[in-house]
Amino acid sequence: MSPTRAPVPPVPARTARQLREATSSARRRHRADPDLNPLRKGLRLERVPDPCCFVLFGATGDLAHRKVIPAIYQLWRTNLLPAEFSLVAVARRPYTDEAFVAEIRASVEANSRVRPIDEGAWAELAKRITYQQLDFGGDAGFDRLSERLDALDEERGTAGNRLFYLATQPSQVTEIVHQLGRVGLDHELRGAGWRRVVIEKPFGRDYESARRLNHEVAKVFRESQVYRIDHYLGKETVRNLLVFRFGNGIFEPVWNRSYVDHVQITVAESLGVESRGAFYEETGASRDILQNHLLQLMTLVAMEPPSSFHADALRDQKLQVLRAITTPDTEHVRHDVVRGQYGPGWVEGAAAAGYREEPEVDPESETETYVAGRFTIDDWRWSGVPFYLRAGKRLPKRATEIAIQFKEVPLPLFRESTGDPAANVLAMRIQPDEGIMLRFAAKVPGLGLDVRTVNMDFDYGTSFAVDSPDAYETLILDALLGDASLFTRADEVEAAWAVVTPIIEGWAAMPAPRFPNYAAGAWGPEAADELLERDGRRWRRI
Ligand SMILES: NC(=O)c1ccc[n+]([C@@H]2O[C@H](COP(=O)([O-])OP(=O)(O)OC[C@H]3O[C@@H](n4cnc5c(N)ncnc54)[C@H](OP(=O)(O)O)[C@@H]3O)[C@@H](O)[C@H]2O)c1
Repeated sequence: MSPTRAPVPPVPARTARQLREATSSARRRHRADPDLNPLRKGLRLERVPDPCCFVLFGATGDLAHRKVIPAIYQLWRTNLLPAEFSLVAVARRPYTDEAFVAEIRASVEANSRVRPIDEGAWAELAKRITYQQLDFGGDAGFDRLSERLDALDEERGTAGNRLFYLATQPSQVTEIVHQLGRVGLDHELRGAGWRRVVIEKPFGRDYESARRLNHEVAKVFRESQVYRIDHYLGKETVRNLLVFRFGNGIFEPVWNRSYVDHVQITVAESLGVESRGAFYEETGASRDILQNHLLQLMTLVAMEPPSSFHADALRDQKLQVLRAITTPDTEHVRHDVVRGQYGPGWVEGAAAAGYREEPEVDPESETETYVAGRFTIDDWRWSGVPFYLRAGKRLPKRATEIAIQFKEVPLPLFRESTGDPAANVLAMRIQPDEGIMLRFAAKVPGLGLDVRTVNMDFDYGTSFAVDSPDAYETLILDALLGDASLFTRADEVEAAWAVVTPIIEGWAAMPAPRFPNYAAGAWGPEAADELLERDGRRWRRI
């Protein structure tokens, strides 16, 4: 069916007023009475969202179980959710509340960042979870959901504030959003009751489909209500990249074409496609990683300083970078972008099957499990500085890193010795072993003048001795607080697709590649090495 948005009847003035009163009374109670949440006694709270209802579509799915619900538990456990909180889990299978709670408890136990589970905190959270069976394809479930949410406002004091989290297949987003509009759940009531929707990646399959999806979502929700999630932006080290660049004066003067030789960004995974073969067949590395994670990291490295950390100030600057990336033409795709697919091999000491032998994968598949490309940014800061991006599965290790390679010294005085003239690298490790490393030349102790490169290393774990929150905790809390800085705006998503779509289309028009072209456990196809060798450079050993 294709639901159309029926006109929503005006909200009766009394309802809006009642909700406003409920919100402020809930806030007053919340502040005054620590017993509303026994965990909160004596603790100072910095940022707690308004009373609200978190409606999780796709609550029985993989993402919900592994990431979203464990993140909610963790936020609850650390007193970062309001006492007037309710989680409404929505999916197709039938469950009683008790059966669903028992099942997700097992997932939280298995996936929570902090174990064992805190029994007191879990018991309090479990009281606030209900399950709602609903098929996205029919009206009836959404009508019932709407009534249920109104009832929860009364029972739980959630005050009309609702966050809809769509942990569902991308093809279902339009349908759900239209249904939410049909039953009026998009409507924000003046002064009481915000409504937000979080949409998982991938957002579209190419430029046109992303535009269509934005258009459909915009028929129901205003852009300020839409939170497109790319969990990479919630990672502690990615957020620290902003602090590193804009909280320190010393790097800014060298952060440009005068001093930077090139930039390398790597997203390497040692895993294959695991149980997600069917999903990956439709996606490939360019859609799964390049369009979102890699380009997002590139924008954060390359953007101009924003005037503030307000969401739009930040996103305006990121958008400028995306729009300044040279749009790949056919020649560029042929010469500067490499695709690969892994064959059988060895990864981390264990035999690994080739991609074409994985479950749910076509034995003749032409899907790329590796992509590498050379990109340039046409602006004053970066003109002529190549950005080399690469991502792949079944590489030797799991590692995400941004490396800024600085230029050689103008006159290499120590060429006679063993020193590396291109000594200066700043490497930011996003995962694992989060940290920042600066490499420079140093004299080897002794009577001669031998020069070696040494590393100055900042390690998150040892410097702060606290666990970083999971990216989903950060992003869910931000969405509940109404802070969209780490979420992608509609124009940003489209600009990223404008870079990647010509690559996907260019590949489709070229002869089929000879896949597999790298063994599981290798650092990608030879052509990826040649890409840098042509420029007199090589990939960093990670
Ligand atoms: N999994 C990950 O690691 C991951 C990572 C990043 C992004 N994502 C994105 O997150 C989203 C969800 O992925 P996933 O792996 O969690 O998917 P999944 O395991 O296939 O889960 C899909 C969920 O949608 C529900 N559903 C499907 N059809 C429905 C219908 N007609 N009516 C009601 N409910 C329906 C399913 O309910 P029933 O089970 O009851 O049928 C299930 O809860 C996707 O957009 C994916 O790209 C996933």
